[in-house]
Amino acid sequence: MKSAVILVSGRGSNMRAIVEARTGLEVKAVIANRPDAPALPWAVERGLATRVVDHREFATRDAFDERLALEIERLRPDLLLLAGFMRILGEAFIGRFAGRMVNIHPSLLPAFPGLRTHRRALEAGVKLHGATVHMVTAALDGGPIVAQGAVPVLAGDTEESLAARVLEVEHRIYPQAVRWFVEDRIESNGRDVVQVRGTGASHDWIVSPRNAE
Ligand code: GAR
Repeated sequence: MKSAVILVSGRGSNMRAIVEARTGLEVKAVIANRPDAPALPWAVERGLATRVVDHREFATRDAFDERLALEIERLRPDLLLLAGFMRILGEAFIGRFAGRMVNIHPSLLPAFPGLRTHRRALEAGVKLHGATVHMVTAALDGGPIVAQGAVPVLAGDTEESLAARVLEVEHRIYPQAVRWFVEDRIESNGRDVVQVRGTGASHDWIVSPRNAE
């Protein structure tokens, strides 16, 4: 059985999607960098272990990273799943968990790394937008891609309507990617292109969540 620690900062809807998908993953703990993260009460209710490593209590980024790494290492997870974790982690931290750290980002990477992805997609006039599950490397939102899901950008879309459509796709592709890890079907050294054994492609193209049913 594969195990994971899930890192969150806020709402935790991707964490919920992963837990509810019953992938066979053992969630060793949910760790938040904010004590008021709404993800935490949900995790507690589900009987999951939770921890808070509040970034505001540390004088430097490195000190926060070090404490977070110690909390995680104590739990010895196979995977570290970032699910709406909104802190940039330093190179030393990333090196410690190289090849085991996975993130979900709300755009079709390499388009729109960083923040405000939905607004930037609307401003750029792209016709397809979506989400990406990728391995975490020192390059911000630049690690090897595990899965992607795409949605159309519709006339009249607002940042909110587009975000909601993308979020539906996030909730499909992140559990799917986790399932691949649990089934040991991911081939990755954490740096190069990810291959998924037993599927035709390492991308999960979904033009629209409804069409894909
Ligand atoms: C999600 O849309 C996720 O892709 C994004 O934050 C949201 C968290 O929602 N992550 C990033 O922007 C990472 N840079 P959630 O807390 O409901 O899962």
